[in-house]
Amino acid sequence: MNILVVGGGGREHAFVWKLKQSPHVEKIFVASGNAGTAGIATNLPISKTGEILQWLQKNPVELVLIGPDNYLAEGIVDSIQKLGIPVFGPTKAAAEIEWSKSFAKQLMRDARIPTASFETFTDLEIARTYVRKQVYPLVIKASGLAFGKGVVIVETSIEAEKVLEEIMGNKIFGSAGSEVVIEEFLQGTEISIHAFCDGEDAVLFPSSQDHKRIFDGDKGPNTGGIGTIAPVPRVTAEQMQEIKNKIVLPTLAALKEKGREFKGLLYPGIMLTASGPKVIEFNARFGDPETQVYMRLLETDLVDILFACIKGTLQKQKIVWSNKFTCCVVLSSGGYPDSYQKGKVIKGLNHSFEKDIVIFHAGTTMKNGEVITNGGRVLGVSATGSNLSEALSKAYDAITYISFEGMQYRKDIGAKAVKRS
Ligand code: AMP
Ligand code: GLY
Repeated sequence: MNILVVGGGGREHAFVWKLKQSPHVEKIFVASGNAGTAGIATNLPISKTGEILQWLQKNPVELVLIGPDNYLAEGIVDSIQKLGIPVFGPTKAAAEIEWSKSFAKQLMRDARIPTASFETFTDLEIARTYVRKQVYPLVIKASGLAFGKGVVIVETSIEAEKVLEEIMGNKIFGSAGSEVVIEEFLQGTEISIHAFCDGEDAVLFPSSQDHKRIFDGDKGPNTGGIGTIAPVPRVTAEQMQEIKNKIVLPTLAALKEKGREFKGLLYPGIMLTASGPKVIEFNARFGDPETQVYMRLLETDLVDILFACIKGTLQKQKIVWSNKFTCCVVLSSGGYPDSYQKGKVIKGLNHSFEKDIVIFHAGTTMKNGEVITNGGRVLGVSATGSNLSEALSKAYDAITYISFEGMQYRKDIGAKAVKRS
């Protein structure tokens, strides 16, 4: 069969890498891909929803897999379904769990799903009055999609009022900040959970842990994620079962009850607190770089699983994960997540890396036969090993062969988890 993958980051390169291994797959198209996907699939020079729908009308494929959140929020899945093409991802109504934090919080409150206590506000003055009476730290979130930047942790009410003024008054996140969620600060270990969902049933992946801050020691601004490990040592089978039973399945049930059946990938960010796992946020898509580690561990044919979710037959689908450990260290452009330059030549990609290494491309493109940088997150160096330390040392060894002007990466991905295990 022919497949279209929508997106152009490391997540999408990892999808294509995995899909290539499926005996079901003939051709893979990527809208719009990167230099990594260009080497193993056909990149299409289109990225807008309208362009993708037009292309699908002329070039029907047997399956579409959506990567980024903005397409889901625009309702691309609903439109592709109308064309009669199988598509993996939730409808716009089901994806609201990601594109509106206030919707997600209300759903959790109604369904008694454990999460930080919260209030929502659309009026700046009322929000200001509220924060003057709270205990700190406190978390302020723009309700809409804000490129992963709409969350601010504040230490004092003066700081909180300033942040509210920026988000609600000055609209620094645009309309995403017309409504804000103000919530309790949760303490604990943060993990990423991914679950394949068919509307009713869910199959959880092994646990993973992302690193969001740009600098070592969790310093500096938040990024989209610049290093991931999986599974997370010390996260127990009991904790995973609790997350499934108290969070994932009740969420699917609550959405179904509202007529918003969730078929796709549900990714709750979870804080493991002293009083059990609590939801930090929901995503309605695969994580990035999480997907770059998960595709290294998934042994079952991805096509079979995607169809089982679409058809509602997940219960009958066997899903096998490798018992190895894996990591992904992201190499990013100097200056990211703020402004950075593009067009730097990447050296070392032709080195013959050992077999446990796979390098996924994110912000890359080809120019005059050379791979050059074309985004903030440039490459994801992934490695597998029989334990986490082994995977990490292989990835860091591979990085020594790669370079581009301004290249930066964290030297402490997985370090905390290794120390604790
Ligand atoms: P989000 O975009 O909602 O994932 O938030 C970005 C990051 O802010 C999360 O990955 C957490 O590290 C942190 N965060 C968000 N909400 C909370 C909370 N209620 N308590 C503590 N940390 C939080
Ligand atoms: N790695 C975080 C995300 O995909 O949202």
